[in-house]
Amino acid sequence: MALLEINKINAYYMHNTQKTRAVENVSLSVEDNEIIGIAGESGCGKSTLVKTIYGAIEPPLYLENGSIIYNFKNLSSNTKITNENIPFYWWKKISYIPQASMNVLNPVRKIKKFFENLWRAHRQDLSYKNYQKLLSTHLQHLGLPVSILEYYPHQLSGGMKQRVIIGAASLFHPELIIADEPTSALDVGVQLDVLRLLLKIQNECKNTIIVVAHDMSVMANFCMKIAIMYAGNIVEIGKTLDIFSHPLHPYTKLLIDSLPKIGDKRGLKGIPGSPPDLVSPPSGCRFHPRCPHSFELCKKVSPTMKEFSAGHQAACHLLERGETNERK
Ligand SMILES: Nc1ncnc2c1ncn2[C@@H]1O[C@H](COP(=O)(O)OP(=O)(O)O)[C@@H](O)[C@H]1O
Ligand SMILES: [Mg+2]
Repeated sequence: MALLEINKINAYYMHNTQKTRAVENVSLSVEDNEIIGIAGESGCGKSTLVKTIYGAIEPPLYLENGSIIYNFKNLSSNTKITNENIPFYWWKKISYIPQASMNVLNPVRKIKKFFENLWRAHRQDLSYKNYQKLLSTHLQHLGLPVSILEYYPHQLSGGMKQRVIIGAASLFHPELIIADEPTSALDVGVQLDVLRLLLKIQNECKNTIIVVAHDMSVMANFCMKIAIMYAGNIVEIGKTLDIFSHPLHPYTKLLIDSLPKIGDKRGLKGIPGSPPDLVSPPSGCRFHPRCPHSFELCKKVSPTMKEFSAGHQAACHLLERGETNERK
């Protein structure tokens, strides 16, 4: 049984009568003890998808269809996690590091207070003494000096603040941690430190991490599996090695081609055009207006996900015709 079973969800933003189809017809299985990446250009629905998984669904965001099943361990057999009761499991079973999360630290409160508020709100079953013991062991374990508890956020670097947030997200050993662009505001060297910290947590806690990034290079060394999103849909899912060595979807291929390569003198290839407005997305395959291989069917019919090799799926008419997506 997968830890998360996401089945055909549609998550929309409603402003008066205007509907932004940010996530549409998305199905995804997330296993125990894996690091899965969600990649794609900005505006393709990655943050909306993870917000929905976390259960942070409030207007103007609505879950219009579909279901998410959470198979957390050690829950009584009749416990069903729903949008209403999921906040009870936040930080304990499922943690979420939002995009630009460093800003969640209150500038006039010491880091100590930030952790204390978490304990007070979510782990009152733990005595204050035991909470303090857990916190100092956890910080030391993550290589964070316990002295940071006495600091105010402005006294910490961006990388240190991000590590504090990751420390908080993992403090109560949740089975699932969701990190939305955890490295995007950081310098390259610090990015690596932050990824290493997440890896260390995953190695030790054997939990699951969903990491969102618009940068495929973040994914390459970090994720076991990658889901590629385009304009609200998942267009390809596979093991990281398969995605990089045999990308199936033309969009995935363009994303990979747009990465800098050592010794490549041809310069970077951008992806022509830009992602569509999700208020009125293109008909058929949403990628067809930018796809170098599109044909008539692509304009009319939305392709469905098909498995092309073990665990490697993509949604593309070209592949169904048995043709490759070699770039024109
Ligand atoms: N609060 C909101 N109200 C209306 N539209 C939104 C809101 N937040 C995001 N969107 C739209 O939803 C789409 C997906 O956004 P998002 O999930 O943030 O994408 P990503 O994380 O991939 O950049 C975009 O078209 C974005 O403009
Ligand atoms: Mg985002």
